[in-house]
Amino acid sequence: MLALLVLGLAGYAAASPYSSSIDTLNLFGARAISSGCSTTGTASCHNTTAVSNLCCFEAPGGLLLQTQFWDTAPSTGPSDSWTIHGLWPDNCDLTFDSSCDPSRAYTGISSLLTANGASDTLAFMQKFWVDINGANEQFWEHEWAKHGTCMSTLKTSCLPSGSPRGAEAVAYFQTVVKLFKSLPTYTWLSNAGITPSSSKTYTLSTLTAALKSASGGFTPALDCTSSNLNAISWYFNLKGSAIDGVFAPINAPAAGSCPSSGIKYPLKSGSPTTTASPTTTGPAGSLPTRATIKALQSGSLVGGLLSLGTWSTQTLATYTISGGSSSFTMTSSKGNCGVTSGLLSCGSGVSLTSFSAVTSGSNLLLASGGSTSFTSDGIPSGTTVFPVFSGSNRSQDYTLVIVAS
Ligand SMILES: *[C@@H]1O[C@H](CO)[C@@H](O)[C@H](O)[C@H]1NC(C)=O
Ligand SMILES: *[C@@H]1O[C@H](CO)[C@@H](O)[C@H](O)[C@H]1NC(C)=O
Repeated sequence: MLALLVLGLAGYAAASPYSSSIDTLNLFGARAISSGCSTTGTASCHNTTAVSNLCCFEAPGGLLLQTQFWDTAPSTGPSDSWTIHGLWPDNCDLTFDSSCDPSRAYTGISSLLTANGASDTLAFMQKFWVDINGANEQFWEHEWAKHGTCMSTLKTSCLPSGSPRGAEAVAYFQTVVKLFKSLPTYTWLSNAGITPSSSKTYTLSTLTAALKSASGGFTPALDCTSSNLNAISWYFNLKGSAIDGVFAPINAPAAGSCPSSGIKYPLKSGSPTTTASPTTTGPAGSLPTRATIKALQSGSLVGGLLSLGTWSTQTLATYTISGGSSSFTMTSSKGNCGVTSGLLSCGSGVSLTSFSAVTSGSNLLLASGGSTSFTSDGIPSGTTVFPVFSGSNRSQDYTLVIVAS
């Protein structure tokens, strides 16, 4: 489900009833920057009069495309994920500017990200934002210089004073990664039974209907290279700044280059995300009686569950499991665990509900009501934690891996 994606500190704090005032300190510790812009005003391309503060209103490039590749010749990235192309600020009339500020065409993106506390973003990029010829650094430099430097809300004059050189490029890469994580094209197609194949062909309407339904009603543009599905563009308008604003999904204003039928979705060689990444958690044996529960999102482990059943990147809780794989209950130090109205929680007043365990590759996944899909309103970091919902109600999708402890 593609909901409005809130990228900011304010958004994160507001989304979680459990967050504390330490968040801000913690995020500044990680050197994330804040724009100070409101995210409730007019969306880009929707103004009827001229807007003057272009630090908080993306213009002229208010039509934002998160572009992704499905590269199979040669295969690029995990076999079960599309890869990032970039985030492009097109003008509202579909024209676009490029390479707007050569003085900020930074080189050494890896070092820039590492030096600014964004090595998690870098690690994700090394797997999912990969160049077809392996020249990742040049690809990232090119995307930033050509598209990122055209974003009005990422001008250096918009940054908090004292921001280090390149801080706005760090924010660009962090935003692109967050947006991409909210757009799991491969999973959305595969959930509709549309998987890569050496023989099958698909119609454009089948592909777009599946993606429209999974994204909550938004049609992307699909591009083909001689009938082979090769790229997708998801479109947005932006409320606030690209640093921490809200990306509001919209329908693609124009169709892509795919024909209406006979579309091939070629197989990619290489490993799937779940086995290629440092996410393997050991053989999925029988159900343990004591376990930690880790979250697996787009092939990366991102924290797991605390004793209240919330999603966090802090030290994980140990859960006690009673029963067998097809039906068991869980308790934590806080009490019984259960899913009520979609919300997972543990505590003294919580009624036990039954869970099951599903083997997926080398992982044992937690399931509630038969579904291994869990979602939250944001991705935890520092002391910010998020309530966990069973099913695909929320914007951040992940699975929960049961790891014996
Ligand atoms: C919206 O604001 C931008 C930036 O000020 C301006 O260039 C554009 O003309 C405005 N659009 C309308 C319809 O007034
Ligand atoms: C979705 O959320 C609503 C309200 O937040 C809740 O009542 C419902 O049970 C949830 N659905 C699932 C499948 O969890």
